Amino acid sequence: MSPIALITGSNQGIGRATAEALAINHGFHVIITSRNLAAGEPVASSLREKGHKATAIQLDLTSEESIKAAVAFVEKEFGGLDVLINNAGILIDVHKDLSPWELYNRTFTTNVVGPGVLTELLVPSLRKAPSGLPRIIFLTSSMGSLAYATDKSLPWYGIDYKVYDASKAAVNMLMLNFARVLEEDGGVGRVNAVCPGYVNSNLTRFDARGMSVEMGARRVVEVAVDDGPEGVSRTFSNANGELPW
Ligand SMILES: NC(=O)c1ccc[n+]([C@@H]2O[C@H](COP(=O)([O-])OP(=O)(O)OC[C@H]3O[C@@H](n4cnc5c(N)ncnc54)[C@H](OP(=O)(O)O)[C@@H]3O)[C@@H](O)[C@H]2O)c1
Repeated sequence: MSPIALITGSNQGIGRATAEALAINHGFHVIITSRNLAAGEPVASSLREKGHKATAIQLDLTSEESIKAAVAFVEKEFGGLDVLINNAGILIDVHKDLSPWELYNRTFTTNVVGPGVLTELLVPSLRKAPSGLPRIIFLTSSMGSLAYATDKSLPWYGIDYKVYDASKAAVNMLMLNFARVLEEDGGVGRVNAVCPGYVNSNLTRFDARGMSVEMGARRVVEVAVDDGPEGVSRTFSNANGELPW
């Protein structure tokens, strides 16, 4: 049986590249999720046309109802989940037209509250992972590193992404807590936070200085497929190694 992975925000960017790599190179059945189903369905159908396993569902992380429906679908269709990739995220500190209230609320609802609630509700399905080894990956950022945020020698020290940075620091804390949760009552599981590096995607307004989405997905895929004895848990890393907290 193919291992099953759900990837949030996999209609474009790093999420799409991750889902495609898992389906094409590693034989996963991928659950492509997008807040607009019409954007995710072509990604899934193009994989199916090439003989891979993919299902598209709607999932908006700002809606409790949408999260609950996605969780119910996973349980009904698959009865378990091997890998959850909390990829979807926004960086809107650059939108100077937003009020501070909107900026903080939208960022934290999408980047922290939604992924936290989704993960919480998927724990029972993850505990029933057909592979016997549930894995959760949170897409984080080196911008969420407390050590980097206090290092004035870094070139990006002065970049004012305080809300995004705070949301990713919170994501790192969720990662550590869900690692503990999966191990409760003798359970198993690996939970990690991965920074993709600076990527040319919608989030960076397609900055050509960024790496490709496929390169950005490399470390995410590496951690997602690692079910060997040496596999890591509780790490905060990028493709070059561990990052300082
Ligand atoms: N790009 C970088 O340089 C970089 C660096 C460090 C970390 N990251 C992290 O990597 C992850 C992926 O980023 P990316 O560069 O691939 O960004 P992206 O191309 O903008 O893709 C983000 C995805 O998240 C989805 N999304 C946004 N709001 C959502 C919501 N409310 N509910 C469900 N899905 C939602 C988007 O859907 P729509 O298509 O509908 O908007 C899209 O599918 C993010 O967590 C980001 O913080 C990126």
